[in-house]
Amino acid sequence: MTAELDGSTALVTGATAGIGRAVALRLAASGAAVIVHGRDEQRGAATVEEIAAAGGKAWFVAADLSRSEDVLRLAAEAGEVDILINNAGIYRFASTPDTTAEMFDTHMAVNSRAPMLLVGALAPGMAARGRGAVVNVSTAAAVTPVRGAGAYGASKAALELLTRVWADEFGAQGVRVNAVAPGPVATPGTADMGDDTLQAIGRTTALGRVADPEEIAEAVLFLVSSRASYITGAVLEARGGQLALG
Ligand SMILES: NC(=O)c1ccc[n+]([C@@H]2O[C@H](COP(=O)([O-])OP(=O)(O)OC[C@H]3O[C@@H](n4cnc5c(N)ncnc54)[C@H](OP(=O)(O)O)[C@@H]3O)[C@@H](O)[C@H]2O)c1
Repeated sequence: MTAELDGSTALVTGATAGIGRAVALRLAASGAAVIVHGRDEQRGAATVEEIAAAGGKAWFVAADLSRSEDVLRLAAEAGEVDILINNAGIYRFASTPDTTAEMFDTHMAVNSRAPMLLVGALAPGMAARGRGAVVNVSTAAAVTPVRGAGAYGASKAALELLTRVWADEFGAQGVRVNAVAPGPVATPGTADMGDDTLQAIGRTTALGRVADPEEIAEAVLFLVSSRASYITGAVLEARGGQLALG
């Protein structure tokens, strides 16, 4: 039996944990060979082993996306990819007076500049081959103001704008570029904020709960698959819906 992504290669950034790990597992289960990216070698090896144990193909490449030279090395080591998932991201919360230049710059470097450099390095190859799909992982905080998430939200708002720019730039050559904007998701990253806080955020959604990473991975899989062949430049909200006022 053939799987829908058979014969394709996918680079998933931040695939050592959380949403990226779930995306890597889902794409591999759908037939893609997956380049698992992150910084933590041990967690990278664990994701690769889990994919292999399920009969899939994967390998790990380490790179620190806050360093532009490392991003470019990752792109060079990845080689020809058909699918790029810009998932790796950081989210640190602070009021505007408490937001340092370093904090702002690091959000922009990891959340917007790294995707820019990866698309710049990898999308021309996709375009030359006449096919490719990019999915950028954004956040509900890119459009809805979230207290303390100014630097984070701004870095992801930039990523959503870039999604539309890249959709236009590469669309005529068969490359589709979309984004998924999750609401609260239970991951190692959000575990840091404490379960009570996360669950309280979950209750502010129409569904009244936090998402599992696998639910976001399904949205990503749909966007890279041929089932989304006429969808590009879109931001797919996977935020559990918004509660009505009143
Ligand atoms: N969880 C949520 O509620 C939520 C909601 C909306 C949007 N998102 C977005 O979804 C994405 C994944 O979030 P998550 O909650 O799954 O995150 P997470 O559990 O904190 O995992 C983050 C991943 O990104 C990698 N990463 C972080 N900084 C990096 C850097 N400088 N260089 C290379 N890799 C780096 C980490 O790799 P290593 O640990 O190996 O370094 C890890 O694989 C992010 O873009 C986030 O903004 C998350």
